[in-house]
This record gives sequence, structure tokens and C-alpha cells, in this order.
Amino acid sequence: MERGRFITFEGGEGTGKSTQARRLAQALRDRGINVVETREPGGSPAAELIRKIILSGAAEPFGPVAETMLFFSARDDHLTTVIRPALERGDWVICDRFIDSTRAYQERAGKVKSDLIRSLERTVIGETWPDVTFILDIDPETGLERARGETGGGPDRFEDADIEYHKKIRTAFRAIARSEPGRCVLINARKPADDVAQTVWNEVSLRYDLDDEDD
Ligand code: TYD
Repeated sequence: MERGRFITFEGGEGTGKSTQARRLAQALRDRGINVVETREPGGSPAAELIRKIILSGAAEPFGPVAETMLFFSARDDHLTTVIRPALERGDWVICDRFIDSTRAYQERAGKVKSDLIRSLERTVIGETWPDVTFILDIDPETGLERARGETGGGPDRFEDADIEYHKKIRTAFRAIARSEPGRCVLINARKPADDVAQTVWNEVSLRYDLDDEDD
């Protein structure tokens, strides 16, 4: 059985990545591919527990290093119990946020030492790197406005930060996209959702030789 493909969606708040992840999953299913849709932080029962702790802000007093380790603890369980078994079955995995969020939020914006992140990456992720990562790019003013409209409730631990912080996140994601052009595809998320979905599909169908009709 051929290993499945691992595709991640990344970006700041309100870029529409969850919608795009869902649309790609549907387009693949329409072509008979088994798809596991998942997200981080979370994606497995144990990791969802850690998600609650992180996003409530309860771990914030322990500082950015501890928070980073919590993200990796959640990721370790998610990889072990959900992602690797799915890929080994030949399913495709589509994940809403993954390692690049840690690189953007904790490493580049949060100033957690790169050495620590690289070391946790080696231990926790090992060989299970995404095959393709779509980085959805939007100016933070528009993104935050969209995100607040979506959730309705109060901001979570990270949405609550000031605009300068979100600008740093955007810069960080763009830098990641530039530094790994083979894996990462940077997409202008101001475009209508249909256009973004078409760009995503074109890329995936080209890379994996799927037929290229729109979903
Ligand atoms: P979520 O509500 O899933 O946000 P979104 O809808 O924007 O994806 O909350 C996830 C938050 O956690 C988001 O603000 C980004 C942050 N995060 C990190 O800081 N590091 C990480 O490694 C991950 C996966 C997420």
C-alpha cells in the first residue's frame, strides 16, 4: 500500500484555511481518495485536551517554552494515534495548522529558541513532514476582522494579541514560504474563496497527477 499524502494549511487568523482544507478534502473524496481531516492544536482526544489548556490561556503563566512543549506534546499524540496510522493505511491527511504554526507563533513571534524547536521537530515529527503546505496570506487587519466575525465569542489566547503581533505572524509565514519553496505554496487569501480553492486544487492535481476539473 502506497503511503498517503500529508497536506497542511497554515496562515494567520481569518485567512479561510479551515474552509479551504474542507474543500480540498471534499474534492479528493469526490475522486475516490480516503481523506482524514484534522487540525492542530488537537486532532486526537488527548491532544484536544491539551488544546483546551493552551487556548484558554491557562498555560500562559508558565511561559513560551512550556507552551511550546505543550504544542509538541499534543502533536506527538496526534501524529502517533491519527496521522501516521492514516498515512500508512494509504489515506490522505489534511491538517488545519501544523508545525509551521509553531515556527511562526512560538519561534519567530514568541522568540522561543530555534535550537529547542529544531530538536523537538526531530524527536516528535521525525520523518512525518507534510508533503505540501498551503500558506494562506492576508493582511492582519482584514484577517482579524474575519476571524472575529466567525467565532462570535471572545478572542482566544492568540487572537487577543495586538496588531503588531499579528503582523509578525504574517511576516513569519511569508519567510517560511520563501525558505521552503518546494513544500510551501503561498496563496493570496484576499481572493474569493472559489479562486483560492482553484489554486489549491491546481497545485495538488499537478503534483499528484489527478484530473484537474474543479470541485
Ligand atoms: P484556532 O482556534 O484553531 O485558530 P484558527 O482558527 O486561527 O486556526 O486556534 C489555534 C491558535 O493556536 C491559533 O491562534 C494559532 C495557535 N497555534 C500556535 O501558536 N502554535 C501552534 O503550533 C499551533 C498549531 C497553533
